[in-house]
Amino acid sequence: MSDDTTRRDVLKALGLGTIGLAQGGAGLQYATQTTRAAATAPTVDYTDRVIYQVVTDRFRDGDTSNNPQGELYNPDNLTKYHGGDWQGIVEKIRDGYLTDLGVGALWISPPFENVYEIHPDYDSAAYHGFWGRDLKRPNPYFGSFDDFATLVDVAHSNDIEVIIDFVPNHTSPATEKDGDGFMAEGALYDDGSFVADYDNDPNGYFRHNGGTDFSTYEDGIYRNLYALADLDVSTSYIDTYLKDAITKWLDLGVDGIRVDAVKHMPPKWQKTFLQTIYDHKPVFTFGEWFLSAGQTSERYYEFANDSGMSLLDFRYGQKLRDVLRDGTDDFTGLHSVVEETANSHQQVVSQVPFIDNHDMDRFTTADASTTTTDIALAVLLTSRGTPAIYYGTEQYMTGANEAGNPANRASMTAFDTTTTAYSVISSLASLRASNPALGYGDTQQRWLNGDVYIYEREFGDNVVLVAVNRSSSSWYDVSGLQTALPPGTYGDVLGGALNGWEVTVNDDGSIDTFSFGPETVSVWAHAGDTTTPTIGHVGPTIGTPGTTVTIGGAGFGSTQGSVQFGSSDATVQSWRDDEIVVTAPSVAGGFYDVTVTDASGTQSAAFERFELLSGNQVPVRFVVDDATTETGENVYLSGNVHELGNWDPESAVGPLFNQVVYSYPTWYYDVNVPAGRDIEFKFLIKDGNGNVTWESGSNHTYTTPSDGTGHVRVTW
Ligand code: NOJ
Ligand code: NOJ
Ligand code: CA
Repeated sequence: MSDDTTRRDVLKALGLGTIGLAQGGAGLQYATQTTRAAATAPTVDYTDRVIYQVVTDRFRDGDTSNNPQGELYNPDNLTKYHGGDWQGIVEKIRDGYLTDLGVGALWISPPFENVYEIHPDYDSAAYHGFWGRDLKRPNPYFGSFDDFATLVDVAHSNDIEVIIDFVPNHTSPATEKDGDGFMAEGALYDDGSFVADYDNDPNGYFRHNGGTDFSTYEDGIYRNLYALADLDVSTSYIDTYLKDAITKWLDLGVDGIRVDAVKHMPPKWQKTFLQTIYDHKPVFTFGEWFLSAGQTSERYYEFANDSGMSLLDFRYGQKLRDVLRDGTDDFTGLHSVVEETANSHQQVVSQVPFIDNHDMDRFTTADASTTTTDIALAVLLTSRGTPAIYYGTEQYMTGANEAGNPANRASMTAFDTTTTAYSVISSLASLRASNPALGYGDTQQRWLNGDVYIYEREFGDNVVLVAVNRSSSSWYDVSGLQTALPPGTYGDVLGGALNGWEVTVNDDGSIDTFSFGPETVSVWAHAGDTTTPTIGHVGPTIGTPGTTVTIGGAGFGSTQGSVQFGSSDATVQSWRDDEIVVTAPSVAGGFYDVTVTDASGTQSAAFERFELLSGNQVPVRFVVDDATTETGENVYLSGNVHELGNWDPESAVGPLFNQVVYSYPTWYYDVNVPAGRDIEFKFLIKDGNGNVTWESGSNHTYTTPSDGTGHVRVTW
């Protein structure tokens, strides 16, 4: 197939886009297959896409000439390079494997140069890409920059976005002991020039605080993660290096970023990183804040809602595994998590749910039937958020996640396009592209017990109703089912692949009692015509005056109206019924509700709390000595700019840290502030009851740097 044939055309040509038709007769209603309109700005809204996560080394060897020589290479050994590369991915786009699957974005493992040494404990090479050496150069075993450009071109001409994994937290494994010659000692290079390593670091580009015991948030940030040499982003050099490196990849055509280990980097530094990204090229950016099964954390949601990046949806992913893979919970538990995440995320639809990844045991297990995987994929692909599928799940690959034997990262076993999983993904990827209920809709529970989950996704006049029975043996009588689907008969979008059937909705929105058999998923869809402006997604959710912001939704109308940030109008760059691109207005830093007003004056409901930063951001480390507190009290930072909370103690930055870089009664925090600005600030103490004690005396003053990083230290 030619590179300029879009994925949508291919689906249509193969008849896969309208798979539901196979089941139906005359008069049935189906989700219509539409070609996604070309994006008018970099695509920050991925909700109509399916992400496919590729461990590049393990997907396909498209060019044997770039394979490592010697002990780094051994396709029979799971800890060595297998030869997979960008050319291999190109081939699988060109031959239709990825396009027919319905892939709308590829998330590829870290593309930059990694260490050439082998980890002695695991006998492992850096095939996975998380042991950086030079973030401004390509990993030669995946290809050259030219090969990367080819991947981007071929992907783009097939309507596939390219997301890279990026690792700003660390370089590679190092020891605290000097001169022991361990691997590369974490050496960092800048476009080929040696910068520093863990043993030879006169400028303090690495943190030397030992390894984290994960006991506190601070400990995880300011100490090494698993002996990986931790980059000190409070130094101007490292700060600038990382921002230049990501900018370089964006300029190579990258459309999205998965940020590694966001739990382990200063959160407000990450805001400066994102502001750099978004003002260079606003691309979809999502972080990895790992949560184990059952784990949750206030910090997780705080970061999700403050950082300006989306997160891999570990709450949802782990719970879906509990319910469908491990049998440690049931659908009532999944629905609770759906409600929790909807309430706790500023924008749940921009999170990235998944059922497995390169850091977990694969979803499919040798002792469970592959139907379990098919059901999980159907649930995942009809969930809120932008689902990510780990390569090989569609081939039912199995394998555990073990450091010394990472069987969850085996090379692709087959490229079979006839598996049920492949067809489930393909049908639902088409539905996501054509029906915004999946991308933007809320999730309502219509019928629920431990085994049965019937949920409805609704956005504007678009509705998708999904009925799942996970039991391998039980039938359930489903009575009293109500739906927002308009009266009529609907074919199963999966075409019966998971025993689904055609359903009739009565005039009053009820569905007659039916007996619901085991291991069944039905998906029924209606694509409506939304006529009032309805916002589905805003991205990015932070920016500066001048940042390009894309508003996705429905019913905006074909005639241009206006977009408000608070009471100020934003300049409209482009206007479509389902997508508006604007420039964030030049108003003071703060939180603004975003609304759309159509040409006839009808205003949408607000997207709440877009954060407008007050201009370019730089990270500054604020330190206060001698701030003594009683038990239950903490030190915070406030000041006269939005970023410091505009003197409102409720919005003060903190609680500050006081254990690793400095110790109590010294407190510190790395904070994003506007660049090149005279600011005033003060520290304050808050107790558990909200009582506030400000530092006495006049405000401190400080001029923030125009780039790089700043440091300011005062005594309480
Ligand atoms: C999380 C990544 O996903 C994992 O594979 C990696 O080893 C660590 N972060 C460190 O980069
Ligand atoms: C309280 C602080 O103590 C003071 O220094 C600051 O100027 C004011 N807030 C601003 O309202
Ligand atoms: Ca190769």
